[in-house]
Amino acid sequence: MNNYFSIADIDNVEDWVDQAIALKKEPLQDKKLGEDKTIGLLFFNPSLRTRLSTQKAALNLGMNVMVMNFTGEGWSLEYGDGTIMDQGNSEHVKEAAQVVSQYCDILAIRVFAHLKDKEEDYSEKVLKSFMEYATIPVVNMESATGHPLQALTDAITITEHKKKEKPKVVLSWAPHPKALPQAVANSFVEMMQRMDAHFVITHPKGYELASQITKEVPIDYNQENAFKDADFIYVKNWSAYQDYGKVLSTDADWKITEDKMKLTNQAKFMHCLPVRRNVVVDDAVIESEDAIVIQQANNRTYAAQLVLKKILKGLK
Ligand code: CP
Repeated sequence: MNNYFSIADIDNVEDWVDQAIALKKEPLQDKKLGEDKTIGLLFFNPSLRTRLSTQKAALNLGMNVMVMNFTGEGWSLEYGDGTIMDQGNSEHVKEAAQVVSQYCDILAIRVFAHLKDKEEDYSEKVLKSFMEYATIPVVNMESATGHPLQALTDAITITEHKKKEKPKVVLSWAPHPKALPQAVANSFVEMMQRMDAHFVITHPKGYELASQITKEVPIDYNQENAFKDADFIYVKNWSAYQDYGKVLSTDADWKITEDKMKLTNQAKFMHCLPVRRNVVVDDAVIESEDAIVIQQANNRTYAAQLVLKKILKGLK
């Protein structure tokens, strides 16, 4: 494998999940694989889990790790072809990507949507520019439109916790005061379409995700109806896709409560974190025995480790 840009880079989800679970049982089994290899992690946005779990994964593989908070510490980058660079941007991505490629063997990048221009965000300008000009593999640590490391983590977590072959999985929108990208929801939707699950999305009208991503997945605008008999409730806020980047509702009626969880088949509560307690989900739910958010976050390491292992094998 070369780049890990989206879950389309996963050839067989079931195989990958099995391999990640095997890595989790023996995380140091490939300690020699990454010897004398370096990963560079470039963050254009904040992170706790992605930053530390990807570092942990690389260390488990024996790699060296370099981390840079690009926004604030790096030069502001230009992406346009033929731009006369007499304004704010100091360095072109063409040089930046090639230079970093000389210091590292793998490059991982986090760069969120700006939520101002749908076409620009959905073109994945930043990540795709790095992929074009870097001469080393590039890993997506959450881009404008996708979070494929999170989606692989979620597939691992659902597989570990499911009690039936084809569980009912509900992706529920929940309120949030700020405009958040659609990336996590997009990748989760794509992943659920590749898993054996009865999958339903629930959100208020106006929050439809891109139809090229949701395809035939059923959407239920009645959250309580969607929750009935669910085995997994996966909660995430996202801003509107049609009325791009807008917060159309902060309706507290969509918050995840104990009463709503009682409608489910004692569903496991999942969230990628960070989560705003008592806005997105009540304390009583996230602190319940059915919340698996901490276990879910732990699986970030093994998702990242599997991806890096596959890329390292391609380098040999
Ligand atoms: N879920 C997730 O990506 O967490 P961070 O933003 O903390 O990395």
